[in-house]
Amino acid sequence: MRIYVLDNYEEISMKAASILASQIILKPDSVLGLATGSTPLGMYRELVKMHKKGILDFSQVITFNLDEYVGIPPEHPQSYHYYMYNNFFNHLNMKKENINIPPGDEKSVHKVCEDYEQKLRSVSRIDLQVTGIGTNGHVGFNEPDQELNVNTHLIDLKEETIEANSRFFSSPEEVPRQAISMGMGSIMKAKKIIMLANGPNKAKPIEEVVNGKISTQLPASLVQLHPDVTLILDGEAAKYI
Ligand code: PGA
Repeated sequence: MRIYVLDNYEEISMKAASILASQIILKPDSVLGLATGSTPLGMYRELVKMHKKGILDFSQVITFNLDEYVGIPPEHPQSYHYYMYNNFFNHLNMKKENINIPPGDEKSVHKVCEDYEQKLRSVSRIDLQVTGIGTNGHVGFNEPDQELNVNTHLIDLKEETIEANSRFFSSPEEVPRQAISMGMGSIMKAKKIIMLANGPNKAKPIEEVVNGKISTQLPASLVQLHPDVTLILDGEAAKYI
């Protein structure tokens, strides 16, 4: 495991953006696994800047997002579709057919999960997966439990996740209770993983990821088994390691 402890959020964003940029420059048809949430926002901003300067071409890049809420339409401002288009895809030259986000507003969630997994298999492996980490150690929406799903699945969100994400909604009641998430298996098949974390709320789960045991009660701890993982942290998230 490679660990960068950087001074602040801007540096985390720059480091993560540089890693993605190198990946795209070296392999223009890279398959990227992408995350949402507040952590990767700065990274997306930097990548958009690089694209606008002509440094980065996204015309052959393929992306797969980790997750989406169930029950809100793509145009909902808190949907991950909206987030990704608004913060990233709308500013790039990506082909629409190369963008994959699980649809959270379809009737047949089971079919959606199967189709998403099928699409993931069709690209063989994700070249570079970006993740954040939840305060409860979730990755994507793989919530702590006695067992974890391997493939894309429907998941009931834990109370702590609803609480943590309620800051994006006007009240906790508005936060969807379910989501579709890539499974830990789909994530762990990526050739490379970068995990970003900043702020004191992430210090505990990051300590477990670096020094703790592997446990389904802390899904992020599974990355210890991955051969190519890079943690990009600020001093607050790294304070117990
Ligand atoms: P955050 O979410 O980036 O908004 O902290 C991370 C996560 O829940 O995976």
